[in-house]
Amino acid sequence: MGVLKKKIAVLPGDGIGPEVCDEAIKVLEAVADRFGHQFEFETLLMGACAIDATGDPLPEKTLKGCFEADAVLLGAIGDPKYDNNPAAKVRPEQGLLKLRKSLGLFANLRPVTAYDTLIDNSPLKNDRVAGADMLFYRELTGGIYFGDKGRTETGAYDHCTYEREEIVRIAHLAFKAATTRRNKLTLVDKANVLETSRLWREVVQEIAPEYPDVQLDYLFVDNAAMQIILNPKQFDVILTENMFGDILSDEASVIAGSLGLLPSASVGERISLFEPIHGSYPQAAGKGIANPIATILSAAMMLEHFGLHTEANLVKTAVQNALERRVLTPELNPTAPYTTEQVGTFIAYYVLEEAEALPHRDNIEAGLSTII
Ligand code: IPM
Ligand code: MN
Repeated sequence: MGVLKKKIAVLPGDGIGPEVCDEAIKVLEAVADRFGHQFEFETLLMGACAIDATGDPLPEKTLKGCFEADAVLLGAIGDPKYDNNPAAKVRPEQGLLKLRKSLGLFANLRPVTAYDTLIDNSPLKNDRVAGADMLFYRELTGGIYFGDKGRTETGAYDHCTYEREEIVRIAHLAFKAATTRRNKLTLVDKANVLETSRLWREVVQEIAPEYPDVQLDYLFVDNAAMQIILNPKQFDVILTENMFGDILSDEASVIAGSLGLLPSASVGERISLFEPIHGSYPQAAGKGIANPIATILSAAMMLEHFGLHTEANLVKTAVQNALERRVLTPELNPTAPYTTEQVGTFIAYYVLEEAEALPHRDNIEAGLSTII
């Protein structure tokens, strides 16, 4: 792959979003320096910060900027001032949902890996977790998230609907992904109760013969929630609808050892978006304790998406190095923690120099001058 020029829209969002985005940008800049690529970043407002500034969680300018970019990098959105205020008319989350819908991002890929070096950080038993490696294909623009919702005189409703085609398109992506991995696909649904789930099963069964090498099985979501913790190694690709995927992927992060490690890529009709699966963690904002690795790994997925495989692998190796040397934020390294910025710098430095960057703070801080 030659030298690339790419425009990246950055939506840092709220809480820890801006801090973790800064570190991912630092790593992307290190990649650009090392390989001669040109990445141009445009920072745009989305979420609670956009409501504060413009009254709109997804201003027109932001949407336009995303459409004009080659990819979108997102931090996190959300603010507690909206969470316990059911009467709020505008909410930060509406911005994210509208963005996903407008960009046609119907498939959200969430890989979950048990890192050998962090095996003791998982509250689950080592032998259950070691070797677990699964990839969620979460449907992202349909289901209960996007159905009619509202109030009646005495209650409220959220409709869950799926069109056949919405299932077909993501099912093909999930089957294809399985063929590049361990050839196993699990459809998670609630077909014993929900009509939409019965449609999912029907459509996936129809498609299955096109992928004869893929072993397909089905799990009800309640059972899946248990199996993910009980025996995570049984899973390869998990295909599921919007809300089940939201819930199960947070649960599965326990296998990796921290929610702060899990990246995601949302793909679909046009431009793709990359974001950590964690939220805006407002209590941690500005304290330098947020783990930037999920966002850095999301940036690696972006590089992969650009076809920059060597570059993506180098970022992953650099992250692996940080894990091995325990250059980690407090939730993973409570006794000798590093700051958000130091973790990012260590990874960027490794990308730039592929050096055996030393795990001492002094060296990491010294590394800064070579990067910026
Ligand atoms: C996620 C988040 C979002 C979702 C929220 C912020 C709307 O939890 O990306 O997993 O529910 O999809
Ligand atoms: Mn979620």
